[in-house]
Amino acid sequence: MLDVSKKAKRFTESVIREMTRLCRQHGAVNLAQGFPDFPAPQAIKDAACRAIESDVNQYAITWGAPALRAAIAAKQRRCYGLEVDPEREIAVTCGATEAMIASILAIVDPGDEVVVFEPFYENYGPDAILAGAVPRFVSLRPPDWTFDPDELAAAFGDKTRGIILNTPNNPTGKVFTRDELETIAMLCRKWDVVAFSDEIYEHIVYDGAEHVPIATLAGMADRTVTINALSKTYSVTGWRVGWTIASPQLTAGIRKVHDFLTVGAAAPLQEAGAVALAFPDEYYRTLASDYVVRRDLLLAGLRSVGFQCDAPRGAYYILADAAGLGCRDDVAFARRLIEAVGVGAVPGSSFFSRPELGRTLLRFAFPKTADTLNEAVARLQRGLAH
Ligand SMILES: Cc1ncc(COP(=O)(O)O)c(C=O)c1O
Repeated sequence: MLDVSKKAKRFTESVIREMTRLCRQHGAVNLAQGFPDFPAPQAIKDAACRAIESDVNQYAITWGAPALRAAIAAKQRRCYGLEVDPEREIAVTCGATEAMIASILAIVDPGDEVVVFEPFYENYGPDAILAGAVPRFVSLRPPDWTFDPDELAAAFGDKTRGIILNTPNNPTGKVFTRDELETIAMLCRKWDVVAFSDEIYEHIVYDGAEHVPIATLAGMADRTVTINALSKTYSVTGWRVGWTIASPQLTAGIRKVHDFLTVGAAAPLQEAGAVALAFPDEYYRTLASDYVVRRDLLLAGLRSVGFQCDAPRGAYYILADAAGLGCRDDVAFARRLIEAVGVGAVPGSSFFSRPELGRTLLRFAFPKTADTLNEAVARLQRGLAH
């Protein structure tokens, strides 16, 4: 019997997307997958329509339309004072998803070790397996989800090629502090390691938290692959436009891998992305302040039915502990929540290398309208309150 590769056997279907399918099947409110159920900004939609109407409908340059690369460089300068050469240091990809796997494939050899903080965004596991990399997990611990510097230092060694960082963080909502990033950067410099820094939630931060790109720290610009996308900042997760920013040397490798993986991201949507990246600062302030209202609504609702959860400082997820609700098996509990209560969440174990670490946790996403969140809370209150 023909069978799939050993690589493909080592990971399962995405739990997040499986939960989304179950939600559809059972008519549940989907707080599992992190996508907005409200419209994208009119200006970005208009720009996409204009691009299609003016016949930007053929392949873009494989590493990205010039207008989008110029806009990415201008935004990095405006937001963080970082100088990026759009000709040699940017590769436009199909979402942050492709940006991460293309970068790892381009930079990490089979057998190399990659340090991964856990809990982690579930894609990083299969990314490492597909690249033949060996993940070395380092725990982030509640309540502030910080790491033990000695445990981190012990994870680095001669075989370490990279570290995967995600700030603001999915699923914990942690925003890494400058001090924590300095500790990471020091180890990257010491061991000559690349930081793969997924900053897709850079503008979704709360309560005065500041997003610090690790590339802004001393000696890090040349050893960081900064990964980002239109998906979350402009509420267009279905457009599949993302990018990497890295040194010319690393970018050359990423561009080659990207070209043979996907050729390129959707050409007209890249043009629209160039328009979006030039939105004024006010756009980003409103984005964050709208999200804080959604966060607080869901947080209060989850607490009211007995979940234990802290307020995330960034990104748009709440990692909730359901031990007090009798949860001992997160997967069974998540299924029951979808089927019997009508609300979808992601089982916490899918964010850990050792599933037992997430057995009482569930992740709820809140990029949803107040109506959707209120409906979810009402269902939880009906279905879970005793
Ligand atoms: C941390 C993180 N990185 C990447 C992605 C995927 O990004 P994209 O849709 O641009 O591929 C997500 C989506 O949930 C995410 O949470």
